[in-house]
Amino acid sequence: MLANFSVHHPENLYYLLIRISLSQSYKKAYTMTKIKIATTSDVSADKVLKTKAGKQSVLVAKVGDNYCAVADKCPHLGLPLSSGKLENGVITCPFHGAKFEISTGKNVRWVESAMGITLPDFGKKIMAMGKEPTDVPSFAVSQEGEDLFINI
Ligand code: FES
Repeated sequence: MLANFSVHHPENLYYLLIRISLSQSYKKAYTMTKIKIATTSDVSADKVLKTKAGKQSVLVAKVGDNYCAVADKCPHLGLPLSSGKLENGVITCPFHGAKFEISTGKNVRWVESAMGITLPDFGKKIMAMGKEPTDVPSFAVSQEGEDLFINI
């Protein structure tokens, strides 16, 4: 088969790209580390728990019956989200009001305030400093008994 292999044939190129993609996925899976981030009793509803996973600061929350985790780093200016308010599964950055779903990290509203004061539209653009709305990294949480883990 290899004797006839040529990247000039679309099906061979497609095959090669899939092999490269799979090998990168396996490599990532093997280099990830499972880290305990909390126990279920550490996490209460409507509050975030600030913790560490290696060097990564992580916020853990409970939404409904599910545990979730996001990076404690706002994608706007990299400031911590941990002192932000969690309401209805959405955390608000305490610095400029960006909002993120705690269960997915999805940005639901971008920069909109400074020192708690809502800015007019032109002020929001200035405060955004050219940064586009961005999600905060999230981590799948696994549970074993009382212990909660993420893979990073
Ligand atoms: S640092 Fe979070 S919105 Fe600006």
